[in-house]
Amino acid sequence: MYLHGTAKINPDGNLEIGSCDTTQLVKQFGSPLYVMDETNIRNQMRRLKSACEQTSIPYRVAYASKAFNTLAMCRIVEEEGYLLDVVSGGELYTAIQAGFPAERIYFHGNNKSTEELREAINHGVKYIVVDNMVELTMLEDLASEMGKIVPILFRITPGVEAHTHNFVQTGQEDSKFGFDLSSGQANQAVQYVLGSSSLLLKGFHSHIGSQIFDADAFAVAINRLVELIHECHKEYAFFPTVLNIGGGFGIRYTEQDTPRSIEEIIQGITAIIEKAFPERCPEIWLEPGRWIVGESGTTLYTVGTMKEIPGVRKYVAVDGGIADNPRPALYDAKYEAMLANRANEEETELVSIAGKCCESGDMLIWDVHLPPVKKGDILAISCTGAYNYSMASNYNRLPKPAVVLVQNGRAEMIVERETYADILKKDKIPSRLLKQTVNPV
Ligand code: LLP
Repeated sequence: MYLHGTAKINPDGNLEIGSCDTTQLVKQFGSPLYVMDETNIRNQMRRLKSACEQTSIPYRVAYASKAFNTLAMCRIVEEEGYLLDVVSGGELYTAIQAGFPAERIYFHGNNKSTEELREAINHGVKYIVVDNMVELTMLEDLASEMGKIVPILFRITPGVEAHTHNFVQTGQEDSKFGFDLSSGQANQAVQYVLGSSSLLLKGFHSHIGSQIFDADAFAVAINRLVELIHECHKEYAFFPTVLNIGGGFGIRYTEQDTPRSIEEIIQGITAIIEKAFPERCPEIWLEPGRWIVGESGTTLYTVGTMKEIPGVRKYVAVDGGIADNPRPALYDAKYEAMLANRANEEETELVSIAGKCCESGDMLIWDVHLPPVKKGDILAISCTGAYNYSMASNYNRLPKPAVVLVQNGRAEMIVERETYADILKKDKIPSRLLKQTVNPV
């Protein structure tokens, strides 16, 4: 397993993250356990900023909180001076409860409810990113009913197919997201909103997909947005304050993944922007999620049972699975693993890591080399910081794992492990189904 961030192997032969021995973390907090490397999260945020600072273009960086959103994470994002992208009332509520300043939050989503929009306006978020014509008219009515002028961005679908899994592609023409460019929808929406007295168009947004390695896809998308901007300037004398080019930068899950460095990506983007706007340049916004937190997360599991099918494979089952990481089942995502308690031992066995949920598709890794595995070993799977905790479920009524933030030898629980009582908290039994004290015969 590649060691990301502050991960290393300590003199006891155990995996250590943030100078915390992961075997001790499991003793203290139980397993499965999500471990987040605070130093690495902050380093990623600072690295992206400094890559942008090397360029001449005006920029702002944002964190796409859907990747991993908790109160503590919002605090880190605020301290690092980032903007925050939220896509639901729940993400907005988390940010507000964390004390994140509303004027640094903006709200995405293809089907925001009136209630969500009302809350966002009431909190005074910086922008609402309007996704489609229905939302545009609904927001216009709401803003005038509330007597507010609401600043907005338009989400544009640039018609770009990024080379990534179909389920995480978003920029292609046939997408549920955004105003479509090729049919003229985007242009019409601009014309419409410029006549509105309650909505204030501040710019454009596009996000073409996730875990993208192909820098050309970004280039094509930006060029199409640039065309739209020139068109709007010519036709309506409108020039955007903001051009948000989304997130989607790929990370290294396994050795097959070879993402370009963020510096290279930013340089590529800058070259296009500088050429497109030699005189006046909108503020360029970036909003990665995975790139900020993905490599900073590690999930620790305890090995339980094993099953060897001679000549076929050996299954090693851990105490979590599809409920804490649905990505292998959903996107055929690949991960690397190691035995955290015997990190120096030779990896002589080829095994498959199975989850504990009742379905054959609950497999975390199909092929991984490990030292001969024993019951009770601690298995670490790396790169689980993005879209794991945030996509976790209670399938099979498994309580969601705890999340621990580690840094400089300090381990702090930022999300408590769920209990069975938590799982039952919202269950109700209608009185007619209540257990009878006298058996009806
Ligand atoms: N901005 C917008 C508008 C987005 O929809 C997304 C992700 C991002 C930014 C951040 O993308 P990132 O930098 O994290 O790639 N559950 C899937 C990923 C879904 C991404 C949804 N949108 C997965 O586990 O791979």
